[in-house]
Amino acid sequence: MLAFPEAWALARASLLTQIAPPPRHVAIIMDGNGRWAEARGLPRSEGHAAGAEPVRTVLKAAHRLGIRYLTLYAFSTENWARSTEEVGNIFTLLGQYIDSETAELLASGVRLMAVGDLRSLPAQTRQALDQAERLTAHNQDLTLSLALSYGSRAELTQAVRELATKTQTGSLDPLAINEDIFGQSLWTGRLPDVDLLIRSGGDKRVSNFMLWHLAYAELYFTDTLWPDFSEADFLSAIADFQGRQRRYGRA
Ligand code: IPE
Ligand code: IPE
Ligand code: MG
Repeated sequence: MLAFPEAWALARASLLTQIAPPPRHVAIIMDGNGRWAEARGLPRSEGHAAGAEPVRTVLKAAHRLGIRYLTLYAFSTENWARSTEEVGNIFTLLGQYIDSETAELLASGVRLMAVGDLRSLPAQTRQALDQAERLTAHNQDLTLSLALSYGSRAELTQAVRELATKTQTGSLDPLAINEDIFGQSLWTGRLPDVDLLIRSGGDKRVSNFMLWHLAYAELYFTDTLWPDFSEADFLSAIADFQGRQRRYGRA
């Protein structure tokens, strides 16, 4: 039998999905860890550490709602400009997250994927990610993508380079290039368009995240700092999305 809080959470999720279909693909810019820590007189690394719990909360809630894709912006190409200490902390925490969560992801039907310039990640992180990806590759309920060393401009540029090389070697006709072929050349090529983008931390910008897939995404910004982001915050974003009218340029 389910424990009461889990049964209650499932009932809430079922009510919400009866109002309107949930988004298929939710992407989140998890911002505000540093400010959360600084406001408490703590080092920034404590903010990143505290950011792991909302990831678990949101993943569970997304799963209950039947959301198929959850993509989390965890480290951008531009974040390499931070101090060596902070970058090191982030990758240590990421390694700990993968180690502690893989068994649970595997058991709960979640497939883990990493998207970004993965060659630039520390070797240990890449190995841990590769293993988790291989283990969970057959899971189909929900795909959890971690955007790591990810930046849209770098992604778009490498896609152009890849396609240009193929046309030069004769394996691709330039006139055959269409939106599908271009989209498939992106690091995020296996992901569908984003339906809902959430950004925590109060800033209203996309910071080089998934520019191609955001073309018709609904945007939701909240002042809540990521370590404080709760299930209620997530459900508010989903309910807000369900009230939107998407027109895709039509009258
Ligand atoms: C987001 O939080 C996490 C990463 C970018 C890795 P920040 O570290 O950007 O937190 P703020 O924006 O400085 O508060
Ligand atoms: C975006 O946050 C990147 C991640 C959340 C990983 P940033 O803190 O790097 O974005 P800016 O610098 O405020 O645009
Ligand atoms: Mg930030």
